[in-house]
Amino acid sequence: MPSPQAKDQPYTLETYVEDLRRITAETDDEDEIIRRVGPLAQRLAVNKSWLQDKHYVTNAEQGFNAILLHEEPDHSLAVFVANWLPGRGAPPHDHGTWAVVAGIEGVERNTRYARVDDRSRPDYAELEVKNEIDADEGELICMKTGGIHSVRNETDKVTLSLHTYGRHVNHTVRSQYNLETGEKKDFKVHVD
Ligand SMILES: [Fe+2]
Repeated sequence: MPSPQAKDQPYTLETYVEDLRRITAETDDEDEIIRRVGPLAQRLAVNKSWLQDKHYVTNAEQGFNAILLHEEPDHSLAVFVANWLPGRGAPPHDHGTWAVVAGIEGVERNTRYARVDDRSRPDYAELEVKNEIDADEGELICMKTGGIHSVRNETDKVTLSLHTYGRHVNHTVRSQYNLETGEKKDFKVHVD
């Protein structure tokens, strides 16, 4: 059960973080974590009372921006707002941890991939598209460790989403993938 609070009180980041701590203390099963965190992430994403102007500040060089809302001192339980410029996105990547993404504003196109090579080369991977999901406000994209996706904003407005990870993604071992060349390399992002 989520932390007790009055029904007319908005769900806050603080309460969300308390819930994340409780859930991950009770289980390390990623399926269960995602199943329990998902509805809470949706609740925080659609609430919006906590959103600030700084969460809309874009990064033209990267195409998207990540604004850190919370991380534990050991870099676990990292929560970000990510915003995406029109026509921009992130290349196929994994996270090195579990990920729960909830739409805040606008539609973000998520393409999910399966890795189909024999994993014999550390710097090479072949990916196959599994599915494509246009994630709208309040909708969830969830991945266990190793799940690969790309994100693109095909709309003409900046989109926002709430991203929660088992660990800050610049503190995990993770990769980005080049669909044309098969190159697999480190993926670090600029975070505000
Ligand atoms: Fe991602």
